[in-house]
Amino acid sequence: MDLITVTTTPFDDQRPGTAGLRRRVEVFRQPHYLENFVQATLDACFSKGCTLVIGGDGRYFNDRAIQSIIRLGAAHGVARMIIGRHGWLSTPAAANLIAERNADGGLILTASHNPGGPDGDFGIKINVHGGGQASAALADQIWAHTKTLQAYRQLGAEEVDLDRLAEHDYHGMQIEVVDPLDDYCTLLEGLFDLDRLRELIGSGFRMRFDAMHAITGPYAKRLLEDTLGAPAGSVVNATPKEDFGGGHADPNPVDAAALVDFMYGDQAVDFAAASDGDGDRNMILGPGLVVSPGDSLALLAAHATCAPGYRDGLRGIARSMPTARAADRVAEALNVPCYETPTGWRFFASLLQNERISLCGEESFGTGSSHVREKDGLWAVLFWLNIIAVTGRSVDQLVHEHWARFGRDFFARHDYHIAERDRATDVMSSLEQRLGTLPGQRAGELTVADALRFDYTDPVSGEVAANQGLIVHFTDGARAVFRLSGTGTGGATLRLYADRHVTDPADVDRDRHAMLAQTMAAAAALAEIPRITGLAEPSAVI
Ligand code: G1P
Ligand code: ZN
Repeated sequence: MDLITVTTTPFDDQRPGTAGLRRRVEVFRQPHYLENFVQATLDACFSKGCTLVIGGDGRYFNDRAIQSIIRLGAAHGVARMIIGRHGWLSTPAAANLIAERNADGGLILTASHNPGGPDGDFGIKINVHGGGQASAALADQIWAHTKTLQAYRQLGAEEVDLDRLAEHDYHGMQIEVVDPLDDYCTLLEGLFDLDRLRELIGSGFRMRFDAMHAITGPYAKRLLEDTLGAPAGSVVNATPKEDFGGGHADPNPVDAAALVDFMYGDQAVDFAAASDGDGDRNMILGPGLVVSPGDSLALLAAHATCAPGYRDGLRGIARSMPTARAADRVAEALNVPCYETPTGWRFFASLLQNERISLCGEESFGTGSSHVREKDGLWAVLFWLNIIAVTGRSVDQLVHEHWARFGRDFFARHDYHIAERDRATDVMSSLEQRLGTLPGQRAGELTVADALRFDYTDPVSGEVAANQGLIVHFTDGARAVFRLSGTGTGGATLRLYADRHVTDPADVDRDRHAMLAQTMAAAAALAEIPRITGLAEPSAVI
């Protein structure tokens, strides 16, 4: 067995984004690309003798990447690697294993909801002790290493069979191939009232979970069908595929349109949900209703004590800045703090780790809690089922009762896919320069009340994350938020978010896009999106 030092030259595009490094598979397949990044990550984050958890969402290139990581890790002096069988671990399962096994961190191989397959995307997320993602400062250190890297070291050794549960001595590094489901399912089973859930399902309650051909299939089958007794076939698209069946494994009304159509049709069941490529996102549906992520977070918070894991109440709640403010109203009613963080789960991890909050969520169909340091799709599904089982209410009743008590926060997001990145940054910088002049300005029917740049100081570490988006408040109480996506792999995506609170019962059932049309139009005009980008309309309406 040889220790090989390979000379390399740095790549100039290895700065981690919102959630790790995400690139097209063809980029990752370039000679040295993956190895450079992994070596830089090991050097910046993990010292000799460490224990790492490794696994991914099973997408194309997952297996090849893991074998490289094994060779690089062994050469780096990693003492132990805990790897999910078949190289599989959903993101929340990986975060749980890191915490559970007191590992120093892990590498999660996923590009989340981005398409998979040879023509799709691949990614690496770096998680640290406790299970949360590397902080922005640590991500910058990795980036700094990638810029000066001259060589990487790997063992010239054989591949490891990852399809069998086993313990290997790999030239001095211990490799444990573990069941990717066991620890995670045990964790979730401890948080919820399984007897009530089995009773609900045994009473003829019908559900459908769409795994979208991605990693949550085996987890959902175990939890929903085997443990809770949902009829076989309740979990659909349950076999993980390397290309997610050619689809976009993202649980939102556009990419999971088949499930939405099903729930709006005559065959609709009582409850439906979907998750994404790596299992951290979720969408909840009732017959004829998609629950918005902001509402879902708020509703879980308002009913949290229904679930045994949350019986003692909540310490606090957090939501990402662009997420509608429904959770803030619940936090106020519960008299607990509500934090507004930048987009990306790593900002929640710090608050969770330091026991400032119990629940958190983002508008991008992500919800989670103190049980792991990543968002968690199936956790949200079980939490909803637990609330339905205890309250005896339907999804529709729960949502309407919530709106009757707190009002409704309408929310929508418009994404503009812009081929030339500079045009997207021009929109942001031009608006930022004009922020001071906006208050009082009219845009269509609306008037600007206030405009600001969102800079965040982590209340625990004091770390500052500047420039996390621009916010425009209108005098009617509506709000628009602008930011650039940090997870795309080509060009740029400008995200424009809008939210608006209504309390009049006559308004709560109105169409959300209609309710936000004026806000969206005013925001797009203020930022001069059509003029600067040439796009008259958004590329995607979520
Ligand atoms: C997107 C979402 C964000 C989420 C991230 C990772 O990031 O907007 O909420 O945390 O994916 O799932 P963005 O592309 O906006 O930077
Ligand atoms: Zn994801």
